Amino acid sequence: MSNTELLNARIRTLRYEAEGVLSVELVPVGGVSFPAFSAGAHVDLHLPNGLTRSYSLLNSSTESNRYVLGILSDRQSRGGSRYVHENFRCGMTLPIGKPRNNFALDETAESSLLVAGGIGITPILCMYRHLRAEGKAVQLVYCARSRAQAAFLDELATLGGHVDLYFDDEHGGKPFDLGGFLRTQPKHVHAYCCGPSVMLAAFEAACDSAGIENVHIERFAADSTVVQAPGTSYTVELAKCRRTLEVPADKSLLDTLLEAGVDVDYSCREGICGACETRVLEGCPDHRDSVLSLAEKKANRTMMVCVSGAQCGKLVLDL
Ligand code: FES
Repeated sequence: MSNTELLNARIRTLRYEAEGVLSVELVPVGGVSFPAFSAGAHVDLHLPNGLTRSYSLLNSSTESNRYVLGILSDRQSRGGSRYVHENFRCGMTLPIGKPRNNFALDETAESSLLVAGGIGITPILCMYRHLRAEGKAVQLVYCARSRAQAAFLDELATLGGHVDLYFDDEHGGKPFDLGGFLRTQPKHVHAYCCGPSVMLAAFEAACDSAGIENVHIERFAADSTVVQAPGTSYTVELAKCRRTLEVPADKSLLDTLLEAGVDVDYSCREGICGACETRVLEGCPDHRDSVLSLAEKKANRTMMVCVSGAQCGKLVLDL
């Protein structure tokens, strides 16, 4: 659920892309264009079963007449991807959120390295297409369990450039050697990764030991390594509303704000979509999200109010 203005979208095309992967092409209902987006962005689908799920946009960010998503039928599905695979039909309409980008490209980078694992190819494909169109130096590594499970290979072939494909089953089930590969990369490269949590953890560790500092990752699910510490109560001052609220130990900041009638955007409630990002004017948040980078967390300029709280007794927010 989200408080943002929703768009009405129609499913124009559903396409089999690989084992367990469907692409969904959405077009605007009663209009000719959708809001613009940048490579790496995602949109929230508000599914008829009441669930809201975020999916990355994979088509060209120059297209405003459609959004295309790639959706994996996840065996661990909590009802989102299963609903899409079992119930989506061409012609159906559904509300969607406006695009948000927590995985934006640094356009000033001298060179970029994009690493995708499985369905993580969706934002990476969009980013690769954009960098190729801009004539930027970019290399892509796409890892999947098998060729049959790797989506969008035809499109990657038409884009050309430096693409390395790696299929575990062609290497006796061994995953790609991220550590060895990243050690061969220049330290100034901007390295991006989207894939399963295990891969992201390995990628971050490998970048760290290779001395690569410009690291960007996109998660599909909340980081399971983040421990939710037992909460303590604290005070929140809302600078714009000129109100002060007490956040009890057993309640999230988001719920406290919503119950007090404060207009705050939200969607996943898990610290992964970025919808509830709120500016911090004073105080030290206890960051528990998977959106902000380590540097952004240290800077304490913003926080995700759905999962994060306060390290100290008081926060002042730009609300
Ligand atoms: S609602 Fe998604 S990050 Fe807070």
